[in-house]
Amino acid sequence: MPETNYPFEITDVEEGTSKMLMKYFTGEMTGFVRVGPKGYFFPQKFRQEAANFYNMAIRPSDIFVTSYPRSGTTWAQELVWMVANDLDYETSNAIPLTERYPFLEFSVCVHPVNMQRFIEENSHDESKLELLRMVTKPGTELLADAPSPRFIKSHLPLSLFPPNILDGKMIYVARDPRDVAVSFYHLNKSMRTQGYTGDFKLFWECFMNDLHHWTPFFEHLKEAWEKRHHPNLLFLFYEELSKDLPGAVRRVADFFGKSYSDLQIEHLCDHLSIDSFKNNNSVNYDVMKELGIMVGNKEFIRKGKAGGWKDYFDEDMTAQAERWIADNLRNSDLRFPHL
Ligand code: A3P
Repeated sequence: MPETNYPFEITDVEEGTSKMLMKYFTGEMTGFVRVGPKGYFFPQKFRQEAANFYNMAIRPSDIFVTSYPRSGTTWAQELVWMVANDLDYETSNAIPLTERYPFLEFSVCVHPVNMQRFIEENSHDESKLELLRMVTKPGTELLADAPSPRFIKSHLPLSLFPPNILDGKMIYVARDPRDVAVSFYHLNKSMRTQGYTGDFKLFWECFMNDLHHWTPFFEHLKEAWEKRHHPNLLFLFYEELSKDLPGAVRRVADFFGKSYSDLQIEHLCDHLSIDSFKNNNSVNYDVMKELGIMVGNKEFIRKGKAGGWKDYFDEDMTAQAERWIADNLRNSDLRFPHL
């Protein structure tokens, strides 16, 4: 039954499927749910926060960057933050993106058992504990009293936000699902909140069959695509940023009514390049390593290329992916610029 202040039904994923998934995704220990008519997939903890996301008070000055995970969110966040803040490099370098641009629903992915582990492991260092509290605090609490404008990162699809979400501004980023899956697979292996132990092929199966966080992938994209002409939503593709970053910067600047010189844009593009991102502690999410949430020798900012999926897909998977993409685009005018 829907809760009184929440319009969607939240149902448990069938026990056998949940158990199978928890064998491979060891960061979840209770189970999974599906939300609403599209059946968005989340860890159980989503139940506790669903209504808070749906009922959060939107301010016209809010600036959201949303996406399906691993679509270039971080890249777009820094781009947007810089453009909206008159290219304030000093603050950008001084305050990590995790603080400037909090992740609304990360807390949903932190199972209480893992939370306890992270607290114990960081208990010797009060500053780390403070950081841990900040990144794992429910985003709606963190943002409730935050000064305007609020910069908010989220992977929620539009329908799970308040209906007036576009009273604020939103930049939505989409990416080829094959590159998304490869990138998310690596992140799932290194983030203890996910704790993935399987291989890529199994991960791809889960992703494509809507058995992974924030799926179904295409429904997610289509919800934003349908609003692409809304004056407060800017729809970007990772592949566009890859191909023509200065062009993307200009589009974002137009969206915010800002104007920058060619030289300023060139400088910003250097700042946003994959090489400078990797070495920039303010944006590269090394904080997750510091806190022991991310382990192994993986990086949050990884290859930064479009089309890297080809190294991970055998012939069968390539054909299967093509069919899956074509099936999902058949009744939609959503098109990726590079396909
Ligand atoms: P890869 O794993 O394919 O390299 P998100 O921020 O949504 O989690 O997306 C992460 C993906 O964006 C990763 O893709 C990451 O390397 C890539 N990325 C992050 N910063 C980038 C940049 N400055 N230039 C190009 N790609 C970037």
